[in-house]
Formats: sequence, structure tokens, C-alpha cells
Amino acid sequence: MRSEVKLSVLFTSEQIAAAVSRLAAEIRRDYLGKNPILIAVLKGSFVFLADLIRQLNLPLEIEFAQLSSYGRGRESAGKIKVVQDVRSDIKGRHVLVIEDIIDTGFTAAFFLDYLGKKKPASLKLCSLTDKPSRTQVKVNIDYLGLTVPDKFIVGYGIDWDERFRYLPDICAIEDEG
Ligand code: PRP
Repeated sequence: MRSEVKLSVLFTSEQIAAAVSRLAAEIRRDYLGKNPILIAVLKGSFVFLADLIRQLNLPLEIEFAQLSSYGRGRESAGKIKVVQDVRSDIKGRHVLVIEDIIDTGFTAAFFLDYLGKKKPASLKLCSLTDKPSRTQVKVNIDYLGLTVPDKFIVGYGIDWDERFRYLPDICAIEDEG
């Protein structure tokens, strides 16, 4: 039996929508005429991706990749592996990686390095959130939505052990019960 947890809203769905609109405008400006490939890192980014692309009004392609750090739980172990790889050839293409959160930075740093070896024309990172208090590897976030405090966050696609991805707001776990 799972225990109850206490959540507090950090960003409402309206605040998230405003951040997504701002990011969409920036990305549209930079990628007009470039037919980019957006690579969403599963699972957490799927809600963000779905909202973002519907505001981009831009010809683009979508790919998914799934990465995992060794072990489960809150802490990224720093060793990343590709669970599901991108299916199309990204050589010579403009690639934009879509993430829900940059925590330690290990996942994004690994994936950007991994994709860079496939020789895309350009390679950038868009993340809905960043948690700078947790940075262990500095990653340049080309398009950043929201900066979050040093709390465990859930909602809008982001989980805690697969829970709470469905929440429309981004919430902090205040009390694990
Ligand atoms: C989350 C998030 C990033 C990664 C960030 O994924 O989507 O990919 O952690 O952490 P890091 O900066 O410390 O590497 P997670 O491994 O929780 O998988 P999920 O998206 O399937 O929930």
C-alpha cells in the first residue's frame, strides 16, 4: 500500500502554458524554414512536447528516445544508457532535444554527446524546467521554461516513481507521509 504524500502547487497550468507559449515563439523564430527534428526524451517530456508542438506552427518531425540512469529512485546515478534509440537518421538535420527537467544534468549531457556523434547540422536543448541547485554537470539549455527550487517535483508529465504524471500543475512533494 502506497503512502499518502502532501503536494503543493509550484506552477499552475496557466503559468506553465505561458512558459510554453514563450518557448514556442523563440523556437519558431529560430527554426523557421529548417524542418527540425524534435527528439523528446521519454517518458517525462510527452506532455510538454504535445503542448509545445501545437503552438509552434512550424513544419517539423518528431522522434522519441528513452534513456535511463542505472537504478531507480530520485537520484540520477550518473551512468546513462539508451533504452530506445532515435529511429530516423539525424545526420545533417537540425535537432532539438526536448526534456521535461534538467536535474543533475547527467542525462542531457550524455544524450547531447551521443547525438552529436551522429553529425546533425545543429543540436540544441529545450527543457521545460531546470533545477540549478542540483547541477553536477553543466549543460547549456538553449530554451528554458521554468527554474524550479530544490524540491522533488511532479506533474505535467514528471513523475515520482511513476506517480503523478497526470497532474496539470507542477507540484512539489512537501511531505512523503
Ligand atoms: C528525468 C528527466 C530527465 C532526467 C533528468 O527522467 O526526464 O531525463 O530525469 O535527470 P538528470 O539531469 O539528473 O540526469 P527519468 O530518468 O526520471 O525518467 P522519466 O522521464 O521516464 O520519468
